Amino acid sequence: MRGSIRRFASLAVALVLLGHGVRIQAADDQTTPTTKEQRLEWFRQAKFGMFIHWGPYARLAGAWNGRQLPVGTNCEWIMEKLRIPRDEYREAARQFNPVKFDADAWADLAAAAGVKYVVLTAKHHDGFAMYHSRVSRYNIVDHTPFGRDPLRELADACRKRELRFCIYYSHREDWDEPFAYGNTWDFDFRPEDNLPLFEEKYLNTKARPQLEELLTGYGPFGLVWFDRGMYTPEQGRAFAQLVCKYQPYCLVNGRVGNYDQELLGDYQNMNDNGMPIGGIEEYWETPQTLNETWGYSQFDHQWKRPEEVIRRLVEIVSRGGNYLLNIGPDGEGVVPEPSIQILRAVGRWVSANGESIYGTTASPFHELPWGYCTAKGKTLYLHVFDWPADRRLKLRGLRTTARSAALLAKPADRLPLRQEDGFLEITVPESPLDPVNTVVAVNLEAAPRVDPPVVSQAANGTIVLDYIRAITGGHTVKRFNRKGEFHISKWTSPEDTIVWQVAVATPGSFDVTITYAADASWSDEPYVVQVDGSRLEAKVQPTGLPYEYKTISLGTIPIGRPGPCQVLVRPAKKLDHDLMYFKGIQLTPIAPDSTTP
Ligand code: GLC
Repeated sequence: MRGSIRRFASLAVALVLLGHGVRIQAADDQTTPTTKEQRLEWFRQAKFGMFIHWGPYARLAGAWNGRQLPVGTNCEWIMEKLRIPRDEYREAARQFNPVKFDADAWADLAAAAGVKYVVLTAKHHDGFAMYHSRVSRYNIVDHTPFGRDPLRELADACRKRELRFCIYYSHREDWDEPFAYGNTWDFDFRPEDNLPLFEEKYLNTKARPQLEELLTGYGPFGLVWFDRGMYTPEQGRAFAQLVCKYQPYCLVNGRVGNYDQELLGDYQNMNDNGMPIGGIEEYWETPQTLNETWGYSQFDHQWKRPEEVIRRLVEIVSRGGNYLLNIGPDGEGVVPEPSIQILRAVGRWVSANGESIYGTTASPFHELPWGYCTAKGKTLYLHVFDWPADRRLKLRGLRTTARSAALLAKPADRLPLRQEDGFLEITVPESPLDPVNTVVAVNLEAAPRVDPPVVSQAANGTIVLDYIRAITGGHTVKRFNRKGEFHISKWTSPEDTIVWQVAVATPGSFDVTITYAADASWSDEPYVVQVDGSRLEAKVQPTGLPYEYKTISLGTIPIGRPGPCQVLVRPAKKLDHDLMYFKGIQLTPIAPDSTTP
């Protein structure tokens, strides 16, 4: 027993530096004068942003001509959902007159919430420009009695408060345009049937020129948030390059590219309202709503509580992401009162605990029973959502010496701590300072080194080696696919590895299955699965893209003894493409009676 513990400890130490969830790589390359790391610096610091969905749909507020969108439907989609004829929607847009719009009040709210960037819909799928466009008269200045340019007003108000101003631009979809994607009730055109026409009569006449006028007329943007993808990688890349041409420091989000092709953009987005299930080793952001719609609804009162928003913020940041939280102002330009109240409450927590959010990196730990962890340099921030009744806050697997600990909001009062063989115990006050999340800051001697997660064998003997507890090495990264799911990829050589630490209780022979997606052109590339001393060699079989993960049987492998064991997967030779989009491996014990004759 002791021997196996020691063996385990040395394996753990060998792998400890690899950690998990802390190694971040920037997303795919574009030809730009700035490096991705330079562009991403502010985004990495910011962590928390405000999304604003606002357009003529806000005036309809989820109802049109006596028909109502059910709660849970995205109200900015009302034109499409109710198949409102283009001319009638245009007529409705003509009545859009948000006289109560006050850019300073919105920017004040953003600052009070503690966000560092603001993303406004410059043009959503309805095709209506929320700024004074010279490309199309279908815009808030020329088409409505309002006559003001809210995008310019908000950009100025944000910059005055040192908030990065950013725009959302729906680049593929436009229900006002006969040759764009989306409006199938007025027009009978599908871009996929005639991409040159889509290029010529929509991309070249509206989407690209509008983007150019935005990039050249409104000062520097933090990022451009594209949505709903493109058809070809070239089209997606051309949009990213256009941003870069005019604003080399401006970021481009991942939705600029196709749904079913390789990721583009500087960072990746989760699916709408998606919460991550593990660390992602690239820059990422999740867009989320405060109720159940992005655009304003008069019917939706399903507001998230401030506690839930704080919890989501911390969970997202502890997994290395940014939280882009949406408000949907109404048709008069007023932010719904519940949104204001929630954001102010969240902002109070953020302003007291901002050090544990801004500029932090993902948690070096796997799961923590009482909450989440964020890290910065030599400091760990322990976000305690479940306060320990016995006043003992426990942290396992920390290999760096802790020097001191204190509540973040009370730095002068040092908390007693005890550390032994990777186990740290901090004695905390009887009750938390904050009813939702009290942060304990731990000062370390050096940047944290943490034991890798260990996978234990299930009661039936099965060993499930998934994405979450995998330790990636070399260029291999845990990332989203374009549909917001997860996989591991970017591995192209034998040094690019995926490793798991396993605690084997019942040795024996195991059937090995692997789950992945692979393009036909990746067929037959060799790879290796090593389980301690034994190895299996296999060749990639095509599964069909986009992201059609399949489970394939690789044969059997023995595990000779109980105790710690390491499983490793890697390409067998150097490739000029991904080995595969990897999901996981499973070892299933072969029942002894099926092997004995
Ligand atoms: C979706 C919706 C869109 C919304 C966006 C926000 O793609 O189509 O209405 O703007 O998500 O993430």
